[in-house]
Amino acid sequence: MDDIKDVFMQVINDRRSIRNYTDEKVSDEDLNMILESARQAPSGENAQPWRFIVVRDKKNKKFLSDLSRRGSGRRFTGEFLSKQMHARFEKLKDQAKKEAAFKKLTSGDVSAFVNESDVIVIILGKKEVWDTPFDTSAAIENMLLAVTALGLGACWLVAPCIDVRDEKVLNEYFGITDEYKTVSIIAIGQPSRVPKARPRLPLDELVFGEKLGQPYFEQK
Ligand SMILES: Cc1cc2nc3c(=O)[nH]c(=O)nc-3n(C[C@H](O)[C@H](O)[C@H](O)COP(=O)(O)O)c2cc1C
Repeated sequence: MDDIKDVFMQVINDRRSIRNYTDEKVSDEDLNMILESARQAPSGENAQPWRFIVVRDKKNKKFLSDLSRRGSGRRFTGEFLSKQMHARFEKLKDQAKKEAAFKKLTSGDVSAFVNESDVIVIILGKKEVWDTPFDTSAAIENMLLAVTALGLGACWLVAPCIDVRDEKVLNEYFGITDEYKTVSIIAIGQPSRVPKARPRLPLDELVFGEKLGQPYFEQK
């Protein structure tokens, strides 16, 4: 039993957003396991409102890369102009690093890597289902963990569909009807670079006992 706990935590801790890939293919068997993991996710009232489009064609992946660049660029520019990103930039003291990060984010280049992955999965959710955002998120996380367990890498992106204008373009291109909301995409492939873990807030800043603001851990 301890083995399964250790393996479980290893998969959780090893998962990263992978943005660099080799040319190696994802096998059909691995992709089937990833999709099966999505199918097994929980959903409100067991509605299973998710649908998935597997994209492997180079031209279609390039289309998603261009849309991701545009969406990410708009988003980060918006976040910077509305001052939401100022605190993040203030922390960066090295001027050259600061300029490079600013350019990468506001140009959208940060999200344009997706066509380097072997497979992209587009995740759709039925609009009529109340819990669609939660349900599809659960399915996506299951896929990311399956990817990690298989020794592959993936990145979850909202970039190509966060802006309704881009979502419309994407939907027309892939024949997605009005019944569905395009929620996200995930890029999957063999990692060529695994980044260091990004920092997480400590548990005592996240967890409270009985009432918000009341310590949980110190009570023990
Ligand atoms: C809802 C959601 C949307 C995301 N959208 C993007 C995206 O558009 N582009 C991108 O490069 N990464 C995207 N990410 C990846 C996050 O940047 C990443 O999860 C976060 O920085 C933590 O790093 P880690 O996944 O390696 O732990 C997204 C993640 C989530 C959960």
